[in-house]
Amino acid sequence: MVLQDCGSCHGLTLKGGLGRPLTRAALAHAEPEGLALIILDGIPGTAMPPWRPLMTEDEALWIANYLKTKE
Ligand code: HEC
Repeated sequence: MVLQDCGSCHGLTLKGGLGRPLTRAALAHAEPEGLALIILDGIPGTAMPPWRPLMTEDEALWIANYLKTKE
């Protein structure tokens, strides 16, 4: 799900496309909780959509942690 839904904008390898890269290195500066909020609420004024209607806070946090740890 992350690769397909997020990959449509962030690139199938999540190295960036329309959206910024979501690689571990690119997100090293960010806290999982902060990333989860970005995922839930999107980034106003950009193409990053809010996912709150589609996932729970736990799921967003899971994705945030996944993005920070995957290769
Ligand atoms: C419709 C296109 C689109 C989709 C789909 C999308 N994003 Fe994004 N996302 C963006 C854009 C564009 C930005 C950069 C916004 C900006 O300029 O600050 C972004 C930014 C982000 C950021 C912030 C990165 C940073 O360095 O601060 C995260 C985290 C993120 N997206 C996660 C996700 C996740 C997880 C998904 C799938 C659930 C997803 N995005 C799906 C377009 C998208």
